Amino acid sequence: MALSHKVVTGALENVGGALESVSRRLHAAGCDSPRVDAELLLAHVLGTTRSALRADSRRELRAADAAELELLAARRATREPLAYILGEWGFRRLTLTIDARVLVPRPETEVVVERCLARLAGLAEPRVLDVGTGSGAIALALADEHPGARVTGVDVSPDALAVARENAVRTGLAIELVLGDLYAGLPDGPWDLVVSNPPYVRPDEIEGLAPEVRDWEPRLALVGDGATEAVAARALAVLRPGGALVLELAEADAARVAGLLRELGYVDVTTTCDLTGRERVVEGATPA
Ligand SMILES: C[S@@+](CC[C@H](N)C(=O)[O-])C[C@H]1O[C@@H](n2cnc3c(N)ncnc32)[C@H](O)[C@@H]1O
Repeated sequence: MALSHKVVTGALENVGGALESVSRRLHAAGCDSPRVDAELLLAHVLGTTRSALRADSRRELRAADAAELELLAARRATREPLAYILGEWGFRRLTLTIDARVLVPRPETEVVVERCLARLAGLAEPRVLDVGTGSGAIALALADEHPGARVTGVDVSPDALAVARENAVRTGLAIELVLGDLYAGLPDGPWDLVVSNPPYVRPDEIEGLAPEVRDWEPRLALVGDGATEAVAARALAVLRPGGALVLELAEADAARVAGLLRELGYVDVTTTCDLTGRERVVEGATPA
């Protein structure tokens, strides 16, 4: 026991050794990108950047830093999401506070924001509703990137809304946050845009997901049988004529939801792929 402790301590003596040792540990734990994770954890401990670390691989680690890295690596080895361990995560141009109360914002959701910005182009002060706002990622990115937008985020989770509120303060962006259940109807419009990344994992799919998602992210944010359909139907009642609906969804649901939007009377229905080429965003507009 004493010997193995000594070996680990030795491996953490400098930046290069620490990165090597943590990477191996995270690889063994099944993490997808162990080297990047190791670099982000060590950069977090040292208050520096990944590129600075790479340029300084012989830098010696203080015992306190090595001990903190050891704690963070142990957490990551349990497959706790990196974002929860770091306590923050980048989304579009923002760095947001992220913890176990909310879903970790995903790269595909950045595409949702792009589609919203395209729909809002030319509108000076559009009214925007983000349904299931979670950390506030979409709502805040839109307020940031379309100055003048008046954005409201609604969520059924008081915990999630608390994080969104922290993020509004952190980013200095003014958004309205409302506690509400989408199944009870959406906040009164008229809205120029309704956007939603609703929970869309089917209950029977949850066991097949990565441990980071299955064991750590809020079930309320993941599992939602029919939430997408409910948003699409309820948005009709609160969108202005010619207003837009933008939905993130699972690739398997894209064609069906595009069809549903047409059946509901939406026009100009289009589907957009994420950066890996999967159909993940469906949007449409109410007739003008
Ligand atoms: C997939 S997460 C999206 C979070 C954030 N918008 C994002 O894109 O990162 C879905 C969010 O919907 C919320 N939610 C789940 N059921 C809801 C309901 N019935 N009414 C309103 N919000 C709901 C969850 O609390 C969660 O924050």
